[in-house]
Amino acid sequence: MKSIIKQIPFARQFHRYIKEQEYKRKFATNCYGCFWGIFETFEEARQAAPQTKSIGYDNTELAQEYQEMLEHGNWESSGRMIASYDYPVLFWLKSIINHENTNIFDFGGNVGIHFYTYSKYIKYPETLKWTVCDLPEIIRVGKQIAEKRHINSLFFTSNFEDANNKDIFIASGSIQYVENLATQISKIRKPKHLLINRLPIYNGRLFVTLQNGGKVFYPQYVFNKTEFIEAITSIGYELIDIWEDNVDSCMIPFHPESSVPAYSGLYFQLRF
Ligand SMILES: C[S@@+](CC[C@H](N)C(=O)[O-])C[C@H]1O[C@@H](n2cnc3c(N)ncnc32)[C@H](O)[C@@H]1O
Repeated sequence: MKSIIKQIPFARQFHRYIKEQEYKRKFATNCYGCFWGIFETFEEARQAAPQTKSIGYDNTELAQEYQEMLEHGNWESSGRMIASYDYPVLFWLKSIINHENTNIFDFGGNVGIHFYTYSKYIKYPETLKWTVCDLPEIIRVGKQIAEKRHINSLFFTSNFEDANNKDIFIASGSIQYVENLATQISKIRKPKHLLINRLPIYNGRLFVTLQNGGKVFYPQYVFNKTEFIEAITSIGYELIDIWEDNVDSCMIPFHPESSVPAYSGLYFQLRF
């Protein structure tokens, strides 16, 4: 009977509407990691978000959660220092980090997780300067951890313009949270190397979606792959490598055509 009703167009639409409302209620609560909705802009996604959590990463509780993960959780003490998506970054980083390329800008580097976890695999030059760019609440905690560990090669900023004059730009799982990377990079003295990891790119059109991040909701972009690559190559970079990140995905219920089953990583080198 249910399946016969679903074949009547109006009933089918109504059934879908009910299912969508059910999912939206689930998304609004403890559906950690779930995605919901297709939007044109971040503002539209923010307006549509359920009122149950705050929006965005700049959140004290979230920063404390990261601190606990770094100090007591599964980043270092469990021995699982890195994930499979980190290996291509480590491969390229190891080949380009040297006494001429010591200035790293790590956009969305959180409390310094890549600086700490990659140090097990790469011997950093003594002159290394690793700058993490993240949101104010996150870097406040990052600074505390670095001070406690007496680390003097790790710096923190919330200013994208501090990427100016850096040799290597890393962005792991963070470019989807900002407006137009190519425009931002073209305003500064361009880094020689761009390592962009954990990126939602696919063959469809660019859109914004919302993710349930536990304590907060995050609006994020899903980019068109060709447009994303062309935007970077048009400002003077060459695409050297591209890989699949099979850990991250963006599956949006009711929108299979806009879902991304695997994220990507990209390595670009400056040509001119
Ligand atoms: C998904 S986490 C990725 C963390 C880490 N890089 C990794 O790969 O595990 C995204 C990071 O981007 C940061 N972020 C989000 N929006 C940002 C912005 N506008 N400026 C700087 N960092 C931002 C978040 O605070 C968070 O640390």
